[in-house]
Amino acid sequence: MKILSFEGIEGVGKSTQINLLKDFLEKNKYTVEVLREPGSTLTGENIRNILLDKGSDISDKTELLLMFAARSELISKKINSLSCDYLLLDRFFDASLAYQGYGRNLPLSLIKDLISFTDCPMPELTILIDISVEEAFARKINDQKDRIESSGIEFFNNVRNGYLEIAKNNVNRFLVIDGTLSINEIHNAIIKKLNT
Ligand code: TMP
Repeated sequence: MKILSFEGIEGVGKSTQINLLKDFLEKNKYTVEVLREPGSTLTGENIRNILLDKGSDISDKTELLLMFAARSELISKKINSLSCDYLLLDRFFDASLAYQGYGRNLPLSLIKDLISFTDCPMPELTILIDISVEEAFARKINDQKDRIESSGIEFFNNVRNGYLEIAKNNVNRFLVIDGTLSINEIHNAIIKKLNT
């Protein structure tokens, strides 16, 4: 099973690209599963509600631990027993490095330990769709913001720069795509990478 993870700040178009790629792969007779983080298990979806609810008054450390609690459930209850050709992940452990590490300033070494502790499989490819925080905010102007989305421009600049740094340190695993390209251009760049 090939695992592909999709990353980026809110509003970059991850879900659109995941759906397009799923359709493309299925048309080519591959079996595909899509899972999202945090979530995609019963407990994971409950944890997601706590994490995104604006009424949740949780500390940054609790946020990190809840992300990994949801991830641990996803890995042990779903990912480990899948047998499809492709697993498309709407976010994975790089999101914890970017959001909780670079965004919330929690220690990257601790997050890396949690990645090992929860036995996170390594994605074959991680697709980072990158846009400026201003552009991302403009795309979401009419949306109701959840707890994490309400974290402000400085937080999201740190998250975006964190993602770019992670990609720079893992050039063999990452494909960074300019999120201001058209939906089709981004889709074609992903397919081109899969065919190489
Ligand atoms: P989304 O799936 O709608 O993007 O919502 C998930 C939110 O959770 C999003 O703001 C990113 C955030 N997140 C983290 O902060 N750390 C993580 O490890 C993951 C998977 C998501």
